[in-house]
Amino acid sequence: MRVLVSGGAGYIGSHTVVQLVAAGHDVVIVDSFANSKPAVIGRLEALTGRHLPVHAFDLTDRDKTERLFADEAFDAVIHFAGLKAVGESAQIPLEYYENNLDSTFSLVRAMRRHGVNLLVFSSSATVYGEHAPLPYREDYAPLQSSSPYGRTKVMIEHVLSDVAAADPQMRVALLRYFNPVGAHASGTIGEDPQGIPNNLMPFIAQVAVGRRDKLTVFGDDYPTADGTCERDYIHVEDLAAGHVAALNKLASTQEPVSIWNLGTGQGTSVMEMLHAFERAVGRELPYDVGPRRAGDQPQSWADPAKANAELGWQTCKTIDDMCADTWRWQSANPTGYEG
Ligand code: UFG
Repeated sequence: MRVLVSGGAGYIGSHTVVQLVAAGHDVVIVDSFANSKPAVIGRLEALTGRHLPVHAFDLTDRDKTERLFADEAFDAVIHFAGLKAVGESAQIPLEYYENNLDSTFSLVRAMRRHGVNLLVFSSSATVYGEHAPLPYREDYAPLQSSSPYGRTKVMIEHVLSDVAAADPQMRVALLRYFNPVGAHASGTIGEDPQGIPNNLMPFIAQVAVGRRDKLTVFGDDYPTADGTCERDYIHVEDLAAGHVAALNKLASTQEPVSIWNLGTGQGTSVMEMLHAFERAVGRELPYDVGPRRAGDQPQSWADPAKANAELGWQTCKTIDDMCADTWRWQSANPTGYEG
């Protein structure tokens, strides 16, 4: 298939591009580079051995989006592009609602106008909110989220479901990611957050490489085995493989909307993750314990059975693989793509 990948220069997008090419798809990237670096494209071309066409604009620009679809034919779209920082979304909610929703409207309008029927959307486990029972299952309702960022994901899930229900041609996959970590085994592409990392794994990696003094563990008095929060960390390579599997499934399914959790089904605590990273690096890493972070759930993990059964997909990487691959990337690129 000829696949348009929005946000293809970003962390999950870039890893998915490599696997799409390996699976025989032709990939076109559209990325505003608002939260990614043009340098990733050269790395992707080296990994894939292909020239990768890139369109550098923001999908909120309806004219440019329309022109792209008028000029080029696509069989499918994978829509990663969007603002994604939970904390920032509470500071500038309007930017989050505007950007994440407008870009989706613009993209889906162009798809409808030009007869592109297959859409894979990056959703998040955050849509389960704080009341869903563990493990999280796709049939849980009502969706809710504790941040403006998360609410953009809930809203977009509803929008895409309504659009697909109204159009017999359209097939939508809503992929609910758990906690993506790790990097390509080459160490040449990986997560490169701008500024102080919000997420655990890139923060630990930056402590290990000397860019940060120490990790602060946000609370150790949760009702969990060691008192720190537990999450379902999924290797970005397993996650990328889930996208390729979802795309293949969309091409044959009769379901207008398919929802799949992409997770391992296993919870790992903050302290377990820190110690796994210490094993990968071969030394202890400095940390202290601070107060809880507002909005954190004690535990979150997937029931991945639906994706396993319907996509013929399952995760195969361990927590130690996730840490070893993150460390390979971070130590080879201490300051990310600028290094
Ligand atoms: N943590 C720390 N110290 C840090 C960073 C994180 O202790 O410096 C802890 C958090 O408190 C949490 C755990 O590490 O207990 C994981 O935190 P992350 O920020 O890495 O991940 P979250 O589960 O909070 O967030 C992820 C995604 C969001 C998504 C959210 C809810 O990054 O996009 O899951 O599904 F919205």
